[in-house]
Amino acid sequence: MADSSLIKKYDVAGPRYTSYPTVPHWQTDTFDAQQWQSRLVETFSATNNDSGISLYIHLPYCESLCTFCACHKRITKNHAVEEPYIQAVLKEWALYLAIFPEKPQITEIHLGGGTPSFFAPETLRTLIEGILKDAKVSPEHEFSFEGHPNNTSAEHLQTLYDLGFRRVSFGVQDYDPKVQLAIHRIQPFENVKKVTELARAIGYTSISHDLVFGLPFQQLSSIEDTIQKTLTLKPDRIAFYSYAHVPWIKGNGQRGFDESNLPSGEEKRALYERGRAIFEANNYAEIGMDHFSLPHDSLYKAQENGTLHRNFMGYTTTQSKVLLGLGASSISDSWTAFAQNIKDVESYIEKVNNSQLPILKGHLLNKKDLFIRKQILDIICNLVTSWKISDWTAEEHEMLLEKLEDFAEDEFIIFNEFGLKVLPAGKAFIRNICMAFDIHLDQTNSTQKLFSKTI
Ligand SMILES: C[S@@+](CC[C@H](N)C(=O)[O-])C[C@H]1O[C@@H](n2cnc3c(N)ncnc32)[C@H](O)[C@@H]1O
Ligand code: SF4
Repeated sequence: MADSSLIKKYDVAGPRYTSYPTVPHWQTDTFDAQQWQSRLVETFSATNNDSGISLYIHLPYCESLCTFCACHKRITKNHAVEEPYIQAVLKEWALYLAIFPEKPQITEIHLGGGTPSFFAPETLRTLIEGILKDAKVSPEHEFSFEGHPNNTSAEHLQTLYDLGFRRVSFGVQDYDPKVQLAIHRIQPFENVKKVTELARAIGYTSISHDLVFGLPFQQLSSIEDTIQKTLTLKPDRIAFYSYAHVPWIKGNGQRGFDESNLPSGEEKRALYERGRAIFEANNYAEIGMDHFSLPHDSLYKAQENGTLHRNFMGYTTTQSKVLLGLGASSISDSWTAFAQNIKDVESYIEKVNNSQLPILKGHLLNKKDLFIRKQILDIICNLVTSWKISDWTAEEHEMLLEKLEDFAEDEFIIFNEFGLKVLPAGKAFIRNICMAFDIHLDQTNSTQKLFSKTI
């Protein structure tokens, strides 16, 4: 277990590196939608017939607010919102189809949220059939969705299975009634058991459970109980997320509990270490950060083969260079550029209905961004990276080596002038190690209100 002085030293605000540069460091003033389109088409043309494209579709509605949630969501019980939203997503897709020089080959679809299972199964069918009718589907495709255990029905599971979905992740968070009350998410184990068994009976081959450590009132005994319950259902993957406390995000309602009810940095680290020990004792391997999987799962195999990739959806086994994010707030990535959609649902729908790409902001990567992006990806996916001295300015290289020296002293890494390898003790501090490469952080006075804590 990491000692408490290390935890104090490294428990700082920092990015999760689902992109580099991270969103708060995008240069939005030098970006416009026209440049985004041309960079997108360039990468699309170079890769469509090979690795194809990934689609992330954001479905923002939830019936009830969980007070720990940092996702972009809209709370409503009015299901009349479903149809206009789906039609807007299909219109946005049509706008992209019009600029692509050929039919896209889809390797991956992920329905995220909010709560995809808020939508009726037939509405989801309209969405997926509408997407697929003008595309080719790669023989190696992976379709997945996020299901809320309280409202995912047999019809949802069957409808999406019939459309090619084989992977589902269920939001579990924690089973302790006191924690559930504090985060406003009452969700009995029976509900999770029922949907997990249904999904397996229908034929889903990868079932994932999302757990979160660092939630209000969590204790070692309660998290052990949550994990033991989870293990009885044998999910193929487990996401074990560090609670991101970001109360400054507008409308996320995180003030539903008091900050004094949150475990301290040291307690939080102990929750993680206990969780990891139990998972590993039960044959789950840690994948990058946040994830554990059984050895038969493709995420485990990708880590073993060195083909793990990370993007805005988190860790993935697909290698597409184009990730198109459809829907309000979604982020797209063409490898050389990023673009984020308008977050407000009504403004998003209005823009699309005016036949315009609903882009809010973006970033065009320069040569240095692309180089650092690759360094961070190599570290976060493969725990090893290398560079040429000429890739850095003399000042940058010197600063990097200085920072790495500190990690080496704490036995997190071994390194030389040309590269580094993360040691087992450094795995838990991977975000901190990546931060040493992030030249934008050096130019920012404060990361406090931009990112959650690294521990
Ligand atoms: C969009 S939700 C999953 C689908 C569905 N809405 C549900 O709650 O079951 C995605 C996951 O993000 C994780 N999450 C949300 N807010 C978080 C936070 N503040 N810190 C860490 N993980 C969080 C939760 O584990 C949640 O299951
Ligand atoms: S955790 Fe899921 S259901 Fe709860 S508010 Fe967030 S997105 Fe909605």
